[in-house]
Amino acid sequence: MSGPNTSYDPVEVAALDPAAIDAAVEQALAAAAAASTLEELKAARGAHQGDKSPLALANREIGALPPSAKAEAGKRVGGARGRVGQAFAARQAELEAERDERILVEERLDMTVVPPRRPLGARHPISLTIERIEEIFTGLGWEIAEGPEVEAEWFNFDSLNFGPDHPARAMQDTFFLQPADAGLVMRTHTSPVQSRAMLERQLPLFIACPGKVFRTDDLDATHTPVFHQIEGLAVAEGLTMANLKGTLDRFAAELFGPGVTTRLRPSFFPFTEPSAEMDFKCPICLGQDSGCRVCGGTGWIEWGGCGMVNRNVLAAAGIDPDRYTGFAFGMGIERAVMLRHGVADMFDIVEGDVRFSQQFGMEI
Ligand code: PHE
Repeated sequence: MSGPNTSYDPVEVAALDPAAIDAAVEQALAAAAAASTLEELKAARGAHQGDKSPLALANREIGALPPSAKAEAGKRVGGARGRVGQAFAARQAELEAERDERILVEERLDMTVVPPRRPLGARHPISLTIERIEEIFTGLGWEIAEGPEVEAEWFNFDSLNFGPDHPARAMQDTFFLQPADAGLVMRTHTSPVQSRAMLERQLPLFIACPGKVFRTDDLDATHTPVFHQIEGLAVAEGLTMANLKGTLDRFAAELFGPGVTTRLRPSFFPFTEPSAEMDFKCPICLGQDSGCRVCGGTGWIEWGGCGMVNRNVLAAAGIDPDRYTGFAFGMGIERAVMLRHGVADMFDIVEGDVRFSQQFGMEI
């Protein structure tokens, strides 16, 4: 900046020369217009509005002018700076609008697009049916009990009144575990849980025991060496076969639908006396269609065994058979799933193809 001066004309100060100021304005306006990005505009602003810009220098020179010249020079420089300021502000607004427009397009998100979903798996219908059965029994006030899949031969057979050479031991095709004298088997039914429960729990006893069981069967359309059963056991004073029948009817109706009752046919199991085979009424035709493909027109479907708990079994568990009576039943869960859902082939159940399970509506 020049020092104070009182003697020379303001037009002699080069920076305040109107032509120079007009030129500076022109250049500034051109630079503002030429800036095509906000960064370029910022740089141009520095050059044309910053401290070292020609107009800032000119502004500073005003202070050194004689008072008589200050007003005119101030007006000229102020006007010039105002125009430049407006031009930059306008260009700034334009470039910001362009940027916002671009961001809206570039960063557009389509909120209606369904993201690709990776299916993780699905609950197996056997598990779902077991849960449903557990709900039915807990709804009746029963408890759920479990036992080991590798079972002591004693629980699987002896405690259930199978004598040492009882043909029923061979009747159920048993997987024996090595070494042979370990006395361990893969349990062939869920009935050993009966004995365990009677030894462990207080009377009266009402338990349902779902679980895996194992037999040396080949896999075919209706058999599998690993399958599931649901065992029921009630022990209390005064229980009769009528209680058994009522429970089975209620169970069948809850699982398969109203109108599905059960019927008993005489049979034999070492651990029940009397014993019965249990059928349930065909839920498809309710016994009304002699051409029904599901029940073969008989109106009934075989489901499992049942009976009154044998006195010897109660005694083996330390229960007084003169005071207490009990009933028990055991049935196949695969069979219930096949019937309930129209599954025709056991392979579908055991294969583990998630597309099979997904159809049962419990995807996870
Ligand atoms: N455990 C027998 C079976 O697997 C079924 C059964 C259970 C029979 C309870 C009577 C009482 O064949």
